[in-house]
Amino acid sequence: MVWQVFAKTAIWIASSGAFLPMNISHKVKSLYSADQIGSRVEAIAEDIRNAELRDLLVVAVLKGSFMFAADLLRALHRQGMNPQVEFVHLSSYLDGTVSQGHVTVLKDIESDVKGRDVLLLDDILESGRTLAFAKDLLSARGASRVLLAVMLEKPNKRAVQIEADFVGFRCPDLFVVGYGMDVAHNLRELPFIGVVE
Ligand code: IMP
Ligand code: MG
Repeated sequence: MVWQVFAKTAIWIASSGAFLPMNISHKVKSLYSADQIGSRVEAIAEDIRNAELRDLLVVAVLKGSFMFAADLLRALHRQGMNPQVEFVHLSSYLDGTVSQGHVTVLKDIESDVKGRDVLLLDDILESGRTLAFAKDLLSARGASRVLLAVMLEKPNKRAVQIEADFVGFRCPDLFVVGYGMDVAHNLRELPFIGVVE
């Protein structure tokens, strides 16, 4: 199904030295419907319960994982679990001068993770740099186990060696939006995952 979605953006008008707000229209072709996502979230929650994590702290990586986190936490509740929740805001960028990506912590978690099992959540695992950084950080702080759950995984795109323990969908190598994922800060609100046409 193809959806017509309106989003706000702003363009810089140099001559007047101001941003001009605009409405732009995107055609988004659905890859995974809200129902398909919902079924995968329930299945992942069951797998997580079966992993028998102890003193569980869920750490959701902002911004992209917010919708997955909200759905997964309620699914974990339905599985009879009662995890604590924290958010970490990471920013990753490629430095043109070296062939490595850099990750910085924009907002850290507040809880002590020492001796606890941690479940890291993100929207998508691509190069793996963001989640490898977060996993190393939490392990270095003394977490017992750090497991990874991602809504999407793009196979064969890894720049570092890391695999997710729980995956919603293995998706084709396309730029996807919706269900928390954005294109230039737009379209995070879509309840489905799609590709901008
Ligand atoms: P990586 O695994 O460190 O390369 O980075 C993954 C992050 O890049 C995700 O958390 C997303 O924020 C972003 N990202 C990667 N692929 C896509 C995409 O197809 N659509 C939207 N964001 C993406
Ligand atoms: Mg992200």
